[in-house]
Amino acid sequence: MATAATSLWDVTEAAPKIGTLIRTDKETLLSGDKASEIRAIMEARGVIVFPQINLTDDEQIAFTHTLGTFAHEDGEAAGGKDAVYPITMDESINPIASYLKGAFFWHIDGTMSDQPILASIMSARALAPTGGETDFCNTYAAFDSLPESEKDDLRKLQVVHAMWRSQLYWKPEPSFAELQSWVARGRNVLPLVWKHRSERESLVLGATALEVEGLNTAESELLLVRLRDWATQPQFCYRHTWSLGDMVIWDNTGTMHRALPYDHKSGRLMMRTKLEGEEAFA
Ligand SMILES: [Fe+2]
Repeated sequence: MATAATSLWDVTEAAPKIGTLIRTDKETLLSGDKASEIRAIMEARGVIVFPQINLTDDEQIAFTHTLGTFAHEDGEAAGGKDAVYPITMDESINPIASYLKGAFFWHIDGTMSDQPILASIMSARALAPTGGETDFCNTYAAFDSLPESEKDDLRKLQVVHAMWRSQLYWKPEPSFAELQSWVARGRNVLPLVWKHRSERESLVLGATALEVEGLNTAESELLLVRLRDWATQPQFCYRHTWSLGDMVIWDNTGTMHRALPYDHKSGRLMMRTKLEGEEAFA
């Protein structure tokens, strides 16, 4: 009984419109007792930081299970064991590390599927000496803050997303064969404004956004860039500067994120798990 009163649970805001810091201990997190509170904070605030919580891989997997359905990586064999996924630029650890370079630009994970993952959970195992922060912006707050007169026009628009668009950000002159392999991943048409089951609305933007249907190329690009510029203003953003052992969870359905540049030989290593999506873009 003596330990019951000692659990730590200290919740503070990281920035006015996005981000919450929760100082707690492993036992509290792994018990699942706070799972519904964590999910509510995640939905309301976009990002939760657990400073220096130092979960092991197995503990991170167990924690992920307390929050929802554990999502396996694309291409992983069905029925495979739950595993953390290494985020690194070291190809000896992750052979497809170069595909992660799209992550240096604002994006939402899973725009190529109709039901994106609900959340990502990332822990810092090794850091770069400089750089490598993660930026987040709140796409609910960004939409809410637009003039009412503009919201109705945006609600009518559909946007074509394609994985190859995001790859061109880091490799503007791919070989023909490389471009073909990216283009083969297909395209997906999504609403520009996502009305969630909660009735809250968020902007669906990011590096995979190729063109707005019904607009010419220049009009489309101008709109997409203007809205990205709007959504990533400081008042909608939180920048996480990592300490070793930090774990961050973000609501992938109401935020965009990007990594800041760092030395790819630095050994920076993050371990990621994900929560399966529960709601389709609509
Ligand atoms: Fe991502």
